[in-house]
Amino acid sequence: MKAAIYEQYGPPEVLEIREVAKPTPKVNEVLIRVCATTVTATDCLMRRGEPRWSRLLLGLGKPRKKILGIEFSGDVEAVGQNVQRFRRGDPVFGAAMINMACCAEYVCLPEKAGLALKPAPMTYQEAAAFPDGALTALTFLRDIGKIQAGQQVLIYGASGSVGSFAVQLAKHFGAHVTGVCSTSNVAMVQSLGAARVIDYTQQDFTREAETYDLIFDAVGKTTFSRCKTALKPGGVFLACGMTEFLWPVLPQMLWTALTGGKKVKTGSSNAHPERLDFLKGLVEAGALKSAIDRVYPLEQIVEAHRYVETGHKKGNVVLTIEHSDNMR
Ligand SMILES: NC(=O)c1ccc[n+]([C@@H]2O[C@H](COP(=O)([O-])OP(=O)(O)OC[C@H]3O[C@@H](n4cnc5c(N)ncnc54)[C@H](OP(=O)(O)O)[C@@H]3O)[C@@H](O)[C@H]2O)c1
Repeated sequence: MKAAIYEQYGPPEVLEIREVAKPTPKVNEVLIRVCATTVTATDCLMRRGEPRWSRLLLGLGKPRKKILGIEFSGDVEAVGQNVQRFRRGDPVFGAAMINMACCAEYVCLPEKAGLALKPAPMTYQEAAAFPDGALTALTFLRDIGKIQAGQQVLIYGASGSVGSFAVQLAKHFGAHVTGVCSTSNVAMVQSLGAARVIDYTQQDFTREAETYDLIFDAVGKTTFSRCKTALKPGGVFLACGMTEFLWPVLPQMLWTALTGGKKVKTGSSNAHPERLDFLKGLVEAGALKSAIDRVYPLEQIVEAHRYVETGHKKGNVVLTIEHSDNMR
């Protein structure tokens, strides 16, 4: 099968399309014929092997797993003998997360991994662009941030993948949502349901009188120290970005947990199937949709990585997979 391979950490040009062996499902696994996958900010970090500590997981000198791609949509091609939830032909979507390998014609996942039936109203492209951003926004807002109806919630980086889902989810949970993005994304963030949008190129929300119960930095471009004055007493700063701003977060989290007052929290996305099913229900109820910026064929993965690496994509960038056996 065709797959996008990287044998060393580096710029987008380390990615190559090659023929590799098609995976075979184990007894508890599902083999998926991938229709679409994505390039996320996290894929770019994994390709570069950054931050450096991530190489403890990814491979010290070079990547252990050679196929990138953390989310997908497609159809079940075959199932292992112990699989109960899926049958050949089921349209599915999901998140392979750190196991990656979705930038290929086929991927194998355990039945109990982040895998669910594709929401009926979504195209394969929309479904592929959904799991990572939506699961991350859900983990941070609901599980870590304990969002409550009526709260004032600010989403910083509201036009990215995680941010665009966070705006919609915060609204779904009944919060009053303020989104922060640049001028060209104001209309998009409004259309996702933000009651108020702040253009960070014109206005600094930390210098305004308005304060928030939750500030979710969905893109890793601000800090607790900067946002502290904009938090209400007891307010929470949620840090999700895997950027240079993450390193002070762990000591801040420990320190603010021990002291009263404003808190810092972080964590990592959880792809349990029940969570995907919950989000699928929201899609089917019309409360959640994927924002798609650009679509590239898998063969143009290098261009897609170059674009995502600019840090200014709007929502999601999708890769479509044309199958060599499309004539079947
Ligand atoms: N902890 C976890 O489990 C987890 C899971 C998933 C992702 N992540 C991390 O979350 C981060 C975001 O991922 P993503 O895929 O959502 O990113 P993304 O889509 O690539 O983010 C791009 C968006 O960020 C906005 N942006 C860029 N600079 C900004 C600034 N200075 N202020 C405000 N907004 C700015 C851009 O809007 P403008 O063009 O308007 O500037 C753009 O729309 C990454 O660091 C990723 O690794 C963490």
